[in-house]
Amino acid sequence: MRLKYILLSGLILGLFACEQPKNKGENKAEAPKTEEVKQQTKKETTETKQEETKTVAHAGKGNPDKGKAIFNSKGCSSCHQPAADTVGPSLKKIAQAYGSVDELVKYFKREAKPRVWPEKAAIMNPQLMQLKGLSEGELKDLASFILSHK
Ligand code: HEC
Repeated sequence: MRLKYILLSGLILGLFACEQPKNKGENKAEAPKTEEVKQQTKKETTETKQEETKTVAHAGKGNPDKGKAIFNSKGCSSCHQPAADTVGPSLKKIAQAYGSVDELVKYFKREAKPRVWPEKAAIMNPQLMQLKGLSEGELKDLASFILSHK
C-alpha cells in the first residue's frame, strides 16, 4: 500500500516536473507576442487618427506651403515682405489684423472691407482680380500662408 503511494506520488511529481517548465516556456513565448500585437494595433490606430486630424486641419485652415507658392506666383511678394512695410503692409501686420483664415478669405472675395491700410485700398484692389480664378481651397491656402507670419 505504502509503496504504491510513493510510486504514485513519484509519478505525479514526475509528470509535474515535465509538464510545468514546458507550459511555462510556452506561456512566456506566447505572452509577449500577444502584447506586441496589441501595441502594434494601438500604434496603427493612433497613426490613423493623426492622419485624419491632419487632413481635417488642412481642409479647414488651408495649407501654408501651397499658399506660399500661390503668393509668389501671383506677384504678391513684390509689394509684401514678411516683416517690413514696403509698398504694402508687411505680412506680419496683415496676419495680426486677421484672427482666422475665413476672415481673410472673405476679404479676398471682396465680401469684407480692408482693415490694415484702408486709405491705400486703391493700390490693392486691382490685385484682388488676380485671385478670381482660385478655388475656395486655394484662397484658404493663401490666407493660411499670410497668417503664418503672426
Ligand atoms: C502693387 C503692390 C501690391 C501688390 C502686387 C499686392 N498688394 Fe496687397 N496690398 C498693397 C497695399 C498698398 C495694401 C494696403 C491696402 C489695404 O490694406 O487695404 C495691401 C493690402 C493687402 C492686404 C490687407 C488687406 C486689408 O485688410 O487691409 C492683403 C491681405 C493683401 N494685400 C494681400 C495681397 C495678395 C494676396 C497679393 C497677391 C495677389 C497682393 N496683396 C498683391 C499692395 C499690393
